[in-house]
Formats: sequence, structure tokens, C-alpha cells
Amino acid sequence: MTNSIVNKIMELKKERNAIILSHNYQRGEVQDIADFVGDSLGLSQTAAKTDADVIIFCGVHFMAETAALVCPDKKVVIPDPHAGCPMAAMVTARELREKKKQHPNAVVVCYVNSTADVKAEVDICCTSANAVKVVDSIPKDKEILFVPDKSLGDWVAKQLGREMILWEGFCPTHHRISAEHIQKFKVEHPDAKVVVHPECLSEVVDIADHVASTTGILNYARESKDKKFFIGTESGIIHRLQKENPDKEFHHVLQLADCPNMKLNSLEKVQWALEDLETEVTVKPEIAEKARLSIDKMLAIV
Ligand code: 13P
Ligand code: SF4
Repeated sequence: MTNSIVNKIMELKKERNAIILSHNYQRGEVQDIADFVGDSLGLSQTAAKTDADVIIFCGVHFMAETAALVCPDKKVVIPDPHAGCPMAAMVTARELREKKKQHPNAVVVCYVNSTADVKAEVDICCTSANAVKVVDSIPKDKEILFVPDKSLGDWVAKQLGREMILWEGFCPTHHRISAEHIQKFKVEHPDAKVVVHPECLSEVVDIADHVASTTGILNYARESKDKKFFIGTESGIIHRLQKENPDKEFHHVLQLADCPNMKLNSLEKVQWALEDLETEVTVKPEIAEKARLSIDKMLAIV
């Protein structure tokens, strides 16, 4: 059954001159049929340079929207249009405009986990892979408003020893991981390394051995001489970690740290998306024009 779906997907992909992009959190079988699997930064960079006519974007809505922004001449299709991101929903353009009135001189840095409407209101975007570099590119005397992830913002502020005004957004999936979970593994497995995503709570990030974006976690595991790892991020990444490092052992710190939105895309939905091209993700031209500037500024830095 799975094989016949995979064959059909490969056939349709050729017919449509399509490329399949997958985030590191997608279901294993979806990652396995993708042309590129990566973090938010890698996905937007790959989308920006593809010559395919169609991008099947296996991730959540803001990621597909970012691809639509960086390649307006392509058709970007998301297998399940209900795959949203609760963190991205924690800030609206209107709320942000109000906040900007209170801090009229602040440079607004926006995590890509946000809608295009919000990106149209900001100065520059960042991902978890380049947030430190992006913030560091802003003159030291400038006030910074960081939206919407308070945890990522807090981690970046500590890395750079720089104060920022933080929006009160967070990722419900990463916030399920507690410092007690991490302490337990550290005590029971002193030979293991604990690696977490910067969307985790600050008390979790503070005691981890390494903090990185999803691709940063993959790079760390590949390059490390250690053999055992506890991974504090969404469960989907374990598939790729284990596949790329068969001689090493990976444990997910918490079964509940699962993003239900990321798991909405399936092989069947990828096939249907390629057949119908119905679930296209588009951005209104007047919003796209402004939002694209904030993404392009980020891509010029990294
Ligand atoms: P990355 O940019 O590290 O892939 O993370 C995206 C995300 O949504 C994390 O929850
Ligand atoms: Fe959004 Fe968190 Fe899911 Fe990432 S893991 S898509 S931040 S809800």
C-alpha cells in the first residue's frame, strides 16, 4: 500500500515539475519521500532557489507562507491546510501595531513562526538557527522588540548579554518539557548528552548540554563523539537522527512533546495535494510585498 502511494507520488511529482520539502518534525514516511528535509531556515533557502513549478510544503502553514513569499512565481501547496502553529496565532498584526506605538523607536525582530500579516509589520525576521546573528546585526544602541516567542527571545538575549522587549508567545509543545524531566535523565544517564531547542522553557535551556535549531541538533549529534542523546524538541526529529546515526542512541525526553499540527500531513495527503493542487497557500500582494522585505533582510544576513 505505502509503496504504491510512494510510486504514485513520484510519478505526479515528475508530471507537475514539483519539489517536496519537509520539516524535520514531519512524520518519518513523509520525510522519506521529500527532496529536502530541514529546519525553517533551510526550507526557506531551498524554496528561494528551486526551479520547480510547484512546491509541496510538508510543514505548518507559516512555513508554506514563507515559501510563497520568497518565490511568488511558484505554486506552494500544503498537504493539510489545517496545519497551523499555535505560537504564530499568539500575535496578530493589530496587536503588534498597538505594541509598536508604545515603543516607536524599537527595531522589531520577528521569529518566522508568525503570519505574513505580522511579518508585514516588522523590520527583520529570524529563525531559531540565525536569531543570535540577526539580533547581533542590530546596532547596540537600538531598542529591540522580539516577537512572538518569549523563550527564543530570552535565550538570544542571554547569548548576547542584551536586553530585549519580549512578546508573551510560546510553543505549547516545547513548554511541556520541564526541568524535572531533564534532571531525571541527567541523573539516570550521566553518559548521555541532553540537547534541546531554544523554544523550551529557560530553566530547561539553562541545564541542557547543547541548545540549537532542529538542523543544529542534527549537526551536533552527527559531529559528537558521544553515543547517547536525550532530545528535547518535537518527536519527529528522532526519525532523522536515528536514520543518519545508526550507531548512536536517541531518546525523546517526553512523549507528550509532539506537535499535532506537524503530524497532520500524511503520504495520502501529499498524493492528493499533487493531484488537485487545491490547497495552495497564497498571500495578498499588498501584504506579501512588505512581508517579503523582512524575510529577504534575514536571508541576506545568513
Ligand atoms: P526550526 O526552525 O528549528 O526547524 O524550528 C521550527 C519550529 O517550529 C520549532 O518548533
Ligand atoms: Fe508551532 Fe511549536 Fe508546532 Fe513548532 S512545534 S509548529 S512552534 S506549535
